[in-house]
Amino acid sequence: MGKVYVFDHPLIQHKLTFIRDKETGTKEFRELVDEVATLMAFEITRDLPLEDIEVQTPVSPAQAKTLAGKKLGIVPILRAGLGMVDGILKLIPAAKVGHVGLYRDPETLKPIEYYVKLPSDVEERDFILVDPMLATGGSAVEAINSLKKRGAQSIRFMCLVACPEGVEAIKEAHPDVDIYIAALDEKLNEKGYIVPGLGDAGDRLYGTK
Ligand code: URA
Repeated sequence: MGKVYVFDHPLIQHKLTFIRDKETGTKEFRELVDEVATLMAFEITRDLPLEDIEVQTPVSPAQAKTLAGKKLGIVPILRAGLGMVDGILKLIPAAKVGHVGLYRDPETLKPIEYYVKLPSDVEERDFILVDPMLATGGSAVEAINSLKKRGAQSIRFMCLVACPEGVEAIKEAHPDVDIYIAALDEKLNEKGYIVPGLGDAGDRLYGTK
């Protein structure tokens, strides 16, 4: 069964408070999401494999650690996921970036993929799928389907705010996918918003309404 990790680092929690605040304007909201994405990238890369190499310090030879060259892929779910990409790339600039676009079918209300572009070596990469909100879980589950259909073997899901309904949806559909969140909120309301949440992440990132 997939694990759920809540990143309760004080800096992440502090910044998330101001992301939630409805008085926070678009510019600051975008900057804060970017900063939290960087901090979350720091936490999520904690288990990256290392290897020893030899370097020459000014004093002597040294056995030192270097990243073992694991191939990573970042995949934002359009459009709100885009707000987290640059923040992650600050720490892992060599990661490739794919994209998944989904729309909601007006009749079935189910998410349908309309755009998927992934790095060509999809089987070899560890993917971090990102979306600021994990609400019903419908989009996340479908985006994971999209990645798996194209051969992805290793997928983790990272978001800012989740609710129990979304976490359960991923766990049930994709028990191999671990979930990384900054906060687990109380519930979904009747309009599909996370409570207390932060409102519509895409609208707040891009100043649309
Ligand atoms: N998507 C959002 O942007 N916000 C929510 O609260 C739920 C889904």
